Amino acid sequence: MSVRPGKEDKFSFGLWTVGWQARDPFGDATRPALDPVESVHRLAELGAYGVTFHDDDLIPFGSDDTARDKQIARFSDALAETGLVVPMVTTNLFTHPVFKDGAFTSNDRDIRRYALRKVMRNLDLAAQLGAQTFVFWGGREGAESDAAKDIQAALDRYREGVDLLAQYVIDRGYDIRFAIEPKPNEPRGDILLPTLGHALAFIAGLEHGDIVGVNPEVGHEQMAGLNYSAGIAQALWAGKLFHLDLNGQRGIKYDQDLIFGHGDLVNAFSLVDLLENSGYDGPRHFDYKPSRTEDITGVWDSAAANMQMYLLLKERAAAFRADPEVAEALATAGVPDLSTPTLAPGEGYAELLADRSAFEDFDADAAGRRGYGFVRLHQLALDHLMRAR
Ligand code: GCO
Ligand code: MN
Ligand code: MN
Repeated sequence: MSVRPGKEDKFSFGLWTVGWQARDPFGDATRPALDPVESVHRLAELGAYGVTFHDDDLIPFGSDDTARDKQIARFSDALAETGLVVPMVTTNLFTHPVFKDGAFTSNDRDIRRYALRKVMRNLDLAAQLGAQTFVFWGGREGAESDAAKDIQAALDRYREGVDLLAQYVIDRGYDIRFAIEPKPNEPRGDILLPTLGHALAFIAGLEHGDIVGVNPEVGHEQMAGLNYSAGIAQALWAGKLFHLDLNGQRGIKYDQDLIFGHGDLVNAFSLVDLLENSGYDGPRHFDYKPSRTEDITGVWDSAAANMQMYLLLKERAAAFRADPEVAEALATAGVPDLSTPTLAPGEGYAELLADRSAFEDFDADAAGRRGYGFVRLHQLALDHLMRAR
């Protein structure tokens, strides 16, 4: 089965994904550089609706104003020709040696000030291109050794930086929200805000936390051994899923950035099922790396494969939800019952204490004998995933 993506599917790609030249810690680039203008055209042909970038993906670090303006104009023309939009922009605060000890949390104050200026300049560009989400991935915000970083001071500086930038967005009247992207490690030994949960807790302590959410990446949560779709559910529950990075990862190891679904396929299935039924209407953004073994044909095949995987899983999830046997298995498992509040309307702890059926007369042994049928339910999900039903 082959499904053709369209703009309504809201698929977007980072320029740094298809444009990755496959340089790694052990080897040189295996592919030539890609012109961002060409990427825009190819992604549009493949059915994407959006393109995202770090400032330096589009405008090489250190470009003068003339070169910068020229590159932005070329890129804007390509967007106009293809109808592609820029839903998200982010800042490269990790490649240049100046950021080797971090940006907002570098031990060097001058570098922290420089980082904030680099972001403010990029926020102006994001607003100019109509981006509504601005991602912060603090890959260099961290340390390799405990004595090297005062974590509490670093979190103070992180908060100071994000709140200052939020104030800037508010004062300029930009229609932009921030999304923090957690990652446990790589490139730093330990990165600040290592998981989605750490990020949510950090956001709760911000002055401008209302415009700050998360941008969780499949592989990053899985590098920490966590269940990605369960984390996404919590981000949705908190009203903080502003954006997400789809890709694949096979277990706890280096950040693989595989094609979506090419890692933990079962979790990818439950993720698509969740997203499609949750009311999330943001971009389905792919942050993957075409394997180092691929030539340029393989690059575009891999971009198409991400969208193909999402659409196939969407179709499988819809079949799962439409199956009457699944509805029956869900009911047997008690899944819908969890939505009923534990106390009746108007009940408080006094009424609960007075309810003998809740405790004194409750037969815990009988209740403990209940079978939930979760295995049957899960097998039904896998049957649908494997197109056996
Ligand atoms: C990674 C990250 C990065 C960020 C990107 C956004 O693979 O470690 O995904 O690619 O998403 O830099 O700022
Ligand atoms: Mn990654
Ligand atoms: Mn990412």
